[in-house]
Formats: sequence, C-alpha cells, structure tokens
Amino acid sequence: MNNLEVNIKSKNKTYPIYIDNHDISGLKNKILKECNGKNFVVIFNQKVYKLYSKILDFPKDKIFVLKDGEKEKNQKNYLKILDFVLSKKLKREDYIIAIGGGVVGDIAGFAASTYMRGINFIQVPTTLLAMTDSSVGGKVAINTKYGKNLVGAFYQPKAVFINTNFLKSLDLNQYKSGLGEVIKYGFIEKSCNPDSEVNLLNFLNENYEKILNKDSYIMEKLISACVELKIKVVENDEKESGLRKILNYGHTYAHAVEKLTNYTKYTHGECVIEGIKFALNLSVKQNLIDKEYQFLCSDIIQKFNYKPLMTFPAQKYIQIMTTDKKATANHINFILPTQYAQVQEYKFTAEELLNLVQK
Ligand code: GLY
Repeated sequence: MNNLEVNIKSKNKTYPIYIDNHDISGLKNKILKECNGKNFVVIFNQKVYKLYSKILDFPKDKIFVLKDGEKEKNQKNYLKILDFVLSKKLKREDYIIAIGGGVVGDIAGFAASTYMRGINFIQVPTTLLAMTDSSVGGKVAINTKYGKNLVGAFYQPKAVFINTNFLKSLDLNQYKSGLGEVIKYGFIEKSCNPDSEVNLLNFLNENYEKILNKDSYIMEKLISACVELKIKVVENDEKESGLRKILNYGHTYAHAVEKLTNYTKYTHGECVIEGIKFALNLSVKQNLIDKEYQFLCSDIIQKFNYKPLMTFPAQKYIQIMTTDKKATANHINFILPTQYAQVQEYKFTAEELLNLVQK
C-alpha cells in the first residue's frame, strides 16, 4: 500500500492518491468514507460495470453507465451526465465518482468541473493508462468534431483510488497501451524529478517479464513510481506552461499517427512508443544524444514486444503536426531526449523538420 499526496500550492489544495492491491470488495467503503456521508453518483464504464458492479455494490439508482470507447467522450454524453446529476439534485458539496478508464475519468471530471461551477470529484482508474496518467493531475475534457480534448478544464479531484487488481481483467492490448505511457516515464524520470533515484529504465529492463505478466507486487511499485513522477511535474506546473510539457514525450508523432489512422487502428500507447522511437531518431540527427543511448532505449522498448506500425510519407504527418493543438505560431514542438532519462523541448518549422527526417 502506498499513499501519495498531490499538493497544488497555487490553489492551496492537497489530495490523496491511494495505491494498493487489496481486494476490490473493500473499495466501496473506502470511497464512501472519503465522501463523508454526502450524496454521490457513480459514472461507470460499461465493461467495468459488467465485471465489478456486484462486488462494488453501489445503489443502482445512483449509477450512470457509459459505453466503452473514445467516441463516447462526446458532447451528447457530457450533457446526459449533467442531466443525470441534476435529476439526482446533487449539491456542490456532493460527489461525482468516476470508475473506469481515461474516457470515463475525463468526461465525468469535466461534468464535475462545470456542474454548479465545480462539484467534488473522485477518480477510480481501472486501466493502466488511467492509473499512471489521466487520473492524476486534473486534466479533464471531452472531444468535439473539431478534435480531441478541445473542450476541457484543469480540475483536480478530491481523491484518486488506484487498485491494481483491476488490471487482471484488462485485455493485453489495453494493458500494453498503458505500458506505453509507463515506459515513457523511464525516459523522462530525471526531468520530472532530478532527485529521483528509482532508475525506472533499469527497473523496466530488469522486470519486463513480470511487468508483462501483470505481477501485482511489481506493478504496484511501478505504478507508484510513475504516479510520484507525475505528481512532481503537476505540482510544479499544473497548467502546462512549462515543465508539464515533458509528459508529451513521444506524443507529437503519436497524435499524428492516431489522426492518420482515424484513432481506430492502433492504441494510444502503441503510438506513443512509435513517437518515442521517432524522437530518439531526431535527437541522434540533432547530435543531442549518441547512438549508444539510442540503442539502450531501443533495447528496453524491444523487450515489450510492440509491433511496428505502418509508416507514412513525412509530408503527411508533418502537415498534421502543424495543426496539433500543442503547435505554436508556425512551430512544431517536440520533447527530445538529451541525456539518460532526461528530455527537453525543441521547436521546428515544418520545413526544418522535413529536412531533418529526410537527412
Ligand atoms: N497526459 C499528460 C498530462 O497530464 O499532462
């Protein structure tokens, strides 16, 4: 069991992140204790609801079930959730509880941030991706026809409950998608926290078999390490005006691949892994790292058996990168590796990038 705390100094706000591998049957009481007798609703992912609603046993009339899939994170469902909460007459001191992956956490969190200008919100992430990334740090959003996550807020939860037993029912594809983000933390560890002594790259290298087998002791350690790094970053830069950008390592290329393949062909984590390889190549070409470090990184990635993705003409993905929401005035922003477990932001024009990838 590992209890961590997020401290957002600018808002004078702290909240706990509980990480354990205890029996899921005990989770309901822990959540309700956190709600302290207040009223609540639970927004469930459909798959998680089917598997765990009996064990968790929340009252049926307080439950809203959201279908599975990224396309459900839409404006219509956001309004449906708000209507549901309104119909239950929740007050601002009451709670919205999200149980599921990133989709449920994001849409329920955005509903929580706007319901009565902000109601209490609890995250119970059930996927590896949500446990190590989206449930921590307060980014909540919905998708629109103009793009993903374009409408949202920074809205910190009251508490996050991570129970690694949920991973047991996660299919391998989804699990490895989460591992993509986990592996990412290995490459950015020292930039997240210069004092960190975990040596995540080493940990990944030594424990990859246990990690792939979802060994619960190793996964609790690994998730705790990733969440601790994310907390450090978010505490320093809640609104992503500086340091938080490093969490986008691998994401500039990943977002382009996701868009080019209509968000359906590959998982997010697979695309992030491809993006990390792309960034490593760029860094070598820019003489930011040597080939030896690139080999070390590629070797670690290889242990996790990601299949290679289809490739695209450089003009295609560069054109998409220039319209990415993280692009700035004619520049494409890349987080690139510079040293062991360290990264830094670099900016390129489309032309510079094209010349570089064709070098
Ligand atoms: N998922 C990246 C972040 O939370 O900033």
